[in-house]
Parts: sequence; structure tokens; C-alpha cells
Amino acid sequence: MSDARSLAMALVAESFGVDNGELVIGGVGARALVEAYGSPLYVYDEGVMRRRFRALKAAVDGFARVFYSIKANPAVARVFVEEGAGLEVASGAEYLQARAAGAEPESILFAGPGKSAKELDLAIAGGIGEIHLECFEEIEIVARLAARLGRRVPVAIRVNPGPGAQGGAMRMGGKPLAFGFDEEILDEVVCAVTRHAALDLSGLHLFAGTQILDAKVLLAQWAYGLGLAVRLGGLIGRPLRRIDLGGGLGIPYHQGDGALDLAAVSQGVRRLIGERAADPLLRSAEIVIEPGRYLAGPAGVYLMRVRNVKLSRGQRFIVADGGMHHQLAASGNLGQIIKRDYPIVAATRLDAPLLGDTQLVGPLCTPLDTLGRQTALPQLVAGDIVAVLQSGAYGLSASPVGFLGHPMPAEAMAQDGGHRLIRRAGDFSAPLVNLTLEPVASA
Ligand SMILES: Cc1ncc(COP(=O)(O)O)c(C=O)c1O
Repeated sequence: MSDARSLAMALVAESFGVDNGELVIGGVGARALVEAYGSPLYVYDEGVMRRRFRALKAAVDGFARVFYSIKANPAVARVFVEEGAGLEVASGAEYLQARAAGAEPESILFAGPGKSAKELDLAIAGGIGEIHLECFEEIEIVARLAARLGRRVPVAIRVNPGPGAQGGAMRMGGKPLAFGFDEEILDEVVCAVTRHAALDLSGLHLFAGTQILDAKVLLAQWAYGLGLAVRLGGLIGRPLRRIDLGGGLGIPYHQGDGALDLAAVSQGVRRLIGERAADPLLRSAEIVIEPGRYLAGPAGVYLMRVRNVKLSRGQRFIVADGGMHHQLAASGNLGQIIKRDYPIVAATRLDAPLLGDTQLVGPLCTPLDTLGRQTALPQLVAGDIVAVLQSGAYGLSASPVGFLGHPMPAEAMAQDGGHRLIRRAGDFSAPLVNLTLEPVASA
């Protein structure tokens, strides 16, 4: 069994089930799901999301509150809100999605570069836990809008940490970046914020990188953030109310990726709890982490039906009805330098012998639309179902859904043998479907 195949089967064993060679998600067979909602289809196992949230919450108990970064997948935000998560949003639309998912305004944090005055106005008028300030112009805009609405708005300074901070596969700090203020100019930023009566400087935000699989790197990043919070508290002469240490907790996608060791995170957190208790500038602050991928990624499966099987100069191609327009990350075109396959399985033939290297491609007229490059898949025929695992985060919400006008797929939630539609599919006359703000009750 190839390593990629063994990762896929380990993920199936960890989160899903197999019944007579068929992939079972949330107690429901892949075939029944596709028959109910059509293909291609995103399916999320609600139980997996809840279990992951609870495990992470327990691992950081006494240290941090877990928020969910809604950009990872807005369609499933309600599950995490029900579990007690706050939400981190990065646009006006995400703010409305967070409200529709049941989040209270004070449990919503608004980060991201280039926020428009309209988006900021929406959040300030509707209420917000914190706006994360990313540049000097934004300080002035938020202060002006808040003053006009007669509000005092809680704000955090987003810091682009120095090179000492550890990142992950995609570093979001420690180098020149559009996100936040360079750590080196923190005192200047504090002056610019504190001169506005309408701004209530309540927090610090740090997001140094994503897809961190090493507990040591994650803990070092969190420790770095606490150090920055002490420095910022010293500059303003009082403790911060909230310290947001960002997300970035990784999940295995490729052969050789090991899962983040939550027990090691939990152990390291005990030390941080001790350090925090000893520091008057940290003791009273609410510490927040805001992962997306870690909570939602493993719960999601992108199901596609095989349309054609063809050979070209000895190479076998499986042409599916889904592709990079719905699952850009799996095609390797979302930030990957070296394109490597996501874990992929034949959802209706899990027990069939595998054939050698197969290319799994979608219906777009571009070679970029390749989801599997050297995938081991069994003999398949039109109508079989193929599943891309680890698709619950940065799947549909991070894909070029308008490209070539193929309709958006439906999204469904499955749990304990039941399932429900959470977003309708598009069709030829209206291929793009807006994010539903309320779950769809039934098919
Ligand atoms: C500010 C911020 N917070 C949290 C996240 C979530 O990251 P992840 O899904 O890696 O946990 C992101 C992702 O880009 C982000 O930009």
C-alpha cells in the first residue's frame, strides 16, 4: 500500500466508516448521499467536528478559549457556535454569516487587511467583540466611524511578529507582509490608537502561520504572543483584556504528514498557564485561539461521480464531475509550491484492488484541474464515486466557483445515520448560489 493510500485509509478509519466497500460518512453511505443531493457534493460529519472541537477545548482548558475562523468553512459555523466557540471573521459577509450562525456580537472578532468603511460600519453598528487593526489608515477610519455612531469600539492591534516567531507551512509573520503592524513599531501604533477616545484598545492579535503540525512550533508561537502581550501591556500601562494567538493548527494532507500531537500541546499549555498566572499583565486576559482547518478539515469529504475513464499514451485518466472549481486546494493551486495529492479514495470500491498511478481530473478545460496526480485507484467505471478527504476547510469557500460556470455543488451535514442539506446546489440557469445564512431544513 502506498503511503498516500495508507494516509487516506487511516483518515477513513479515524473519522468515517466502511460498509461493504462503501465509504460511510456520519453513518450514511456515500451512494445514498449522492442520490439525495446530487454530485458533486460536499458532506460534513457533524460528529467529527464536535469531537474535534471538544478535544481541542480540553487540550487548552484553563489557558485559552477556542474561536472558529469562519473563513475555513462558513457553512458549518453553527456547529462550533453551538459548542461554545466565538467566531473570527474577515469580511462583512462573514460577519453576517457569523450572526446568522448564532454568534453573539461580543463573540465575533473582525480581522483582515483592507476592510472597507461599509464593512466596518456594519460591524460597529451591529456590535463586535473586537476589530483587529491592520494599518494606520484603518485606525483613523474605525475611530471616525465609531465616533459618528457614538460608540466606543473594542480594538486589537494585529502584530506582524519579528523573525523570532515561528510559522507553519504558510508563514503569516516574521517577514514583510500586508497583515498587521510590524512588531518593531508597536509603540508608534499604540500612540496612534490611544489618542482616539472612540477606540478602546483591548487586545492583541497574532497569526504567524498556518498548517502547523509540530506542537513545539505551535507552543513557541503562543509563548511569543504572550511575550508580545506583556510588551503591549507595558506600553499602555495596564493588562489587555484579550490576547488572540491566532489559528494555524495543521492537519495531515500528504504522505509523511504527521497529525498534530494534541497531548503534547496540552502538556506544553500547562507550562504556559503557570507563566501566565505569574504575570500581572497576563493573568486577567482572555486568551483566544482561532483555528479553522483543524476543527473543520477532517470532517469534510468532497464526493464526485466518475464521468469517463480514458487512456492517453498509456496514462489512465479518471474524468470526474467535480474539480478545482470546487476544491482548489486539492488541485495544488492554493498556495502549494510543490503540488501533492490530497488523500483520495474510491468511495464505492474501497475493497477493490488498486491499479497504479492514475490521474484524477475534473471537467474544466485546463490541465490545472487535476486533483490526483499519482493516485492509486481501483478499476472504475462511469457512475462510481470518488472522495477527496480532508475537504472540510478551505474547500468550496476557497475555490474559483465561477470559472467555466459549472454549478455550485450542494453541501450536506451527516450525523448518526441522518443527513440534511445545508446549502442547495446551483443549476445551469443560476450556477452560483449565495451562501445560505440559515441552514436549509430538507432536500
Ligand atoms: C487571521 C486568521 N486567523 C485564523 C485563520 C485560520 O487559520 P487555520 O485554518 O490555519 O487555523 C486564518 C487563516 O488564514 C487567519 O488569516
